[in-house]
Amino acid sequence: MRLKDKVCIITGAGGGMGQTAALMFAREGAQVAVFELNEEAGLNTVKQVREAGGIAELFACNVANEQSVKQAVERTIELFGRIDVLYNNAGIMPAEDHSVIDTPVEVWDLVMNVNVKGIFLMCKYVIPEMLRQQKGSIINIASFVAFMGCSVPQDAYTASKGAVVSLTRSLAIQFRPQGIRSNAICPGPIETPLLLDWLVKDEEAKRIRLNRQPSGRFGKPEDIVNCAIYLASDESDWTNGAILNVDGGITCNYF
Ligand SMILES: NC(=O)c1ccc[n+]([C@@H]2O[C@H](COP(=O)([O-])OP(=O)(O)OC[C@H]3O[C@@H](n4cnc5c(N)ncnc54)[C@H](O)[C@@H]3O)[C@@H](O)[C@H]2O)c1
Repeated sequence: MRLKDKVCIITGAGGGMGQTAALMFAREGAQVAVFELNEEAGLNTVKQVREAGGIAELFACNVANEQSVKQAVERTIELFGRIDVLYNNAGIMPAEDHSVIDTPVEVWDLVMNVNVKGIFLMCKYVIPEMLRQQKGSIINIASFVAFMGCSVPQDAYTASKGAVVSLTRSLAIQFRPQGIRSNAICPGPIETPLLLDWLVKDEEAKRIRLNRQPSGRFGKPEDIVNCAIYLASDESDWTNGAILNVDGGITCNYF
């Protein structure tokens, strides 16, 4: 087991890649703290982990709210006694997020609050505990859009993921001397319900996107979580400040 007895916080673990992460981390022996805004979804993840014989606990949490994060982190330390891994997965991509010229200010603020401030707050309250331990691994989920423009823009989302990449590098330099590694994963398009609903209905959109994908398929949540397991485990002791594109090669594609 690659994560035996490691206490791992996974934000947004009630659905999508976060839920897959909770299940796969628990299978590797991790004790999973499910940090989730949607309590019903979070409980469903906890139930699935336990049914599979793993350890998980729900901590209802809005990563964009300081009090909520502070309380959930304190309760995690009370219950599990330590925090080995902070997996900042929660992120949003509202439909109203378009170009800078037509994105409502409230939508811009919401995206920044969850995708960037959420990681800031989680780090603010988890890193002091990791400093006490002189050990920890922070995994930030950015996106391939941090590096590529798109003619169908989502400017708030794109800017937020660029910020995640930059913050990861700063954390990596500041805290590695005290035993805390920080890395980011930049997923390409992954088969989550959102993407599938859209592409299953629109064959042309699917064809255009797959034409640009050298691997010939969209990613699966497991493709991302396999990388995260490496970053969470002690196998990655010398991996710090890495910005890992896990995208089938799409960011290498000029045309
Ligand atoms: N799906 C993709 O193709 C793709 C590609 C690149 C990057 N990403 C990134 O990967 C991460 C996971 O994406 P996904 O597709 O699995 O998302 P998803 O929408 O399926 O799941 C996100 C989870 O986060 C939770 N959440 C939302 N806001 C929250 C908040 N304020 N506090 C706590 N929890 C909150 C949601 O309730 C949900 O359970 C996100 O950061 C996303 O930006 C996704």
